[in-house]
Amino acid sequence: MKKKILLSTLIIFSIVCTLNAATLLSPNKNLKLEFQLTPSGEPEYSFFYREKAVILPSKMGFELKNMPSFVNGFQIHKIDTLTFDQTWEPIWGEVRQIRNHYNEMLVCLEQKSTQRTMKIRFRLFDDGLGFRYEFDKQQNLSYFQIMEEFTQFALTADHKAFWIPGDYDTNEYYYTTTKLSEVDASKVDGSGIGTHGYFAKNAVQSPLMMKTDNGLYINIFEAALIDYPAMQLLIDQKKLVLTSSLVPSAVGVKAFMQTPQNTPWRTIIVSDKATDILASKMILNLNEPCKIKDTDFIKPQKFIGIWWAMHVPNKWSWNYAHEPNIKLKDTDWNALKPLPQHGAKTENVKRYVDFAAANGIPSVLVEGWNVGWEDWMGNWKEEVFDFVTPYPDFDVKEIHRYAASKGVKIIMHHETSASVTNYERRLDKAIEFMKENGYEAVKTGYVGRIIPRGEYHDGQWMVNHYIRVAEKMAENKIMLDAHEPVRPTGLHRTYPNWLACEAARGNEFNAWSAGNPPEHETILPFTRLMGGPMDYTPGIFEIKMSYYQPGNPCQVHTTLAKQLALYVTMYSPLQMAADLPENYEKRMDAFQFIKDVAVDWDDTKYIEAEPGDYITVARKAKNTDDWFVGAITDENARMAVIPFNFLDAKQWYVATIYSDAENADWKENPMAYKIQKFLVNSKSILKQKLAPGGGAAISLKKATKEEMKELKKL
Ligand code: NOJ
Ligand code: CA
Repeated sequence: MKKKILLSTLIIFSIVCTLNAATLLSPNKNLKLEFQLTPSGEPEYSFFYREKAVILPSKMGFELKNMPSFVNGFQIHKIDTLTFDQTWEPIWGEVRQIRNHYNEMLVCLEQKSTQRTMKIRFRLFDDGLGFRYEFDKQQNLSYFQIMEEFTQFALTADHKAFWIPGDYDTNEYYYTTTKLSEVDASKVDGSGIGTHGYFAKNAVQSPLMMKTDNGLYINIFEAALIDYPAMQLLIDQKKLVLTSSLVPSAVGVKAFMQTPQNTPWRTIIVSDKATDILASKMILNLNEPCKIKDTDFIKPQKFIGIWWAMHVPNKWSWNYAHEPNIKLKDTDWNALKPLPQHGAKTENVKRYVDFAAANGIPSVLVEGWNVGWEDWMGNWKEEVFDFVTPYPDFDVKEIHRYAASKGVKIIMHHETSASVTNYERRLDKAIEFMKENGYEAVKTGYVGRIIPRGEYHDGQWMVNHYIRVAEKMAENKIMLDAHEPVRPTGLHRTYPNWLACEAARGNEFNAWSAGNPPEHETILPFTRLMGGPMDYTPGIFEIKMSYYQPGNPCQVHTTLAKQLALYVTMYSPLQMAADLPENYEKRMDAFQFIKDVAVDWDDTKYIEAEPGDYITVARKAKNTDDWFVGAITDENARMAVIPFNFLDAKQWYVATIYSDAENADWKENPMAYKIQKFLVNSKSILKQKLAPGGGAAISLKKATKEEMKELKKL
């Protein structure tokens, strides 16, 4: 598949500026950006939606190490503006075509006292603003170190915010909803998260989703995070000003720069409709086009895995033996006494391959296949895994022969235990091993404290590492799914082999912690998913962990029907059917939805949404006439209203509705579902009841003549 640019216009004009201010309008004129220099030459911007301020005058600039700062003393040298309008086709995505339409203003600033320049490039779209700082190659600025970035977002009031604590290592928190003035990161329970620690009570992470009292939705984030640390936000709880706070390096410096270099884009998406926030493609548009020439190897897909059985109680293990305090180099793995519960055994893998083959699932992930899991966590040690030595009971050749005979692929797992030096050292060999054995995709993982010691998951060094891995995998035609990386910022436009990331609190937390509150999946699309797809691992049918271990209080905080709906509401080109095959085999009627649902789309319609409360979305499967709808709610029951006006007006469709049974409830009765079929057309409107913590999943296919006779109209 080739990325096509379909239409493009570019109009450029430039003004040599003597003024201290400039204004830019969005293409539809609803958004306005104002830039100005204060009397002391500080750059400042403000941002308006339909004439109303969203961001009050806000400062921009940097503190540098052992150098005069980039805060004031600026003059405007020149301002270039242009209009850009291009429609492009992503390799995979929520829609077939994306329009990249903006007005741009490049403000070229000169700091006379230091003879240095800094540019600020603003792009104003119909749905939001992006801006970044650019440092040209110049005589008085080559190497420099950023100690802090002072980008501010001065808000107009004490908005409601959906936030997770500012943390340099993890985003695996549940969300808290409070006014900005009430944010207190110390009140958030981080237990269950491997490596965590808030760095200030009043700091939160981006994407930050907010709602004003007047019903305006504001999302602050960043795009194209490359060679720079992630941006978190410090809240001035009196003035209601957010200031960027960058994740530090091991030596305290925030970013090591060499001109020419740019920062990532700072983004503000805004609308009075929550559905517009979800539909925004601005983050993707601010990323560079696809850098991969031959993208045929990139295949959106579903997978199952030797995985959930290690997360639920009393079932399987990653480790082969019980040997804490083991050393990778000096261990004779064949001499160890195997545990009966080791998951990644050849016979278990074959059973999963059989299930995948029988149900049209292309791939099987296998975790715990390689030596080192006996002692992989918590010791901050460098040599944990080598990524090429299977356990004695995992017959790699036989497994691949067997899988190939059934048309199934095995997904590689590289848990690095955050020993990134070790991973980089061994990566070439690990890739060679994958290629020799026919692996086409890899899931990476970064559980633990980072080595090089002192670096953080979201710092500049690690940001570069994740991209290095994505590039290397692309060179070798391998698809990538990264767990515990920095949260994505739209880089999947540039590297579409990077199908998904975790980088948030996934379904797995429900197996062994207080879990994810029922509202969690109604917030993630407004926050974490703004930057790219998540490997959330939906599809859990056996909801309560007491099934595996009597008395165990953990459970998935949704109904079974909501687990189905997540395949549509949590957009990802890589979707796991995460539960155990035997749990699916007991409910093959419900599993049919997971078999049928697409992972790549021609079109997407967000029907209704409210962060923290509900989301309903319809998507048209790529290259077909089939549609799929997902509707989810938080802990409150709700009536989702779904007009089928997106359907082909000339056709009747069969709607298969997988919904909560009458008496379903996430807590008391989560596994009660019903499946109904009706004929619908573009005029039909479905009123669908969702149970507390519930949801509904609907597949829509054109009706055959027989179905027209047999089935009732809605
Ligand atoms: C955490 C990941 O999110 C999970 O998917 C994986 O199974 C474990 N780490 C082990 O790598
Ligand atoms: Ca709610």
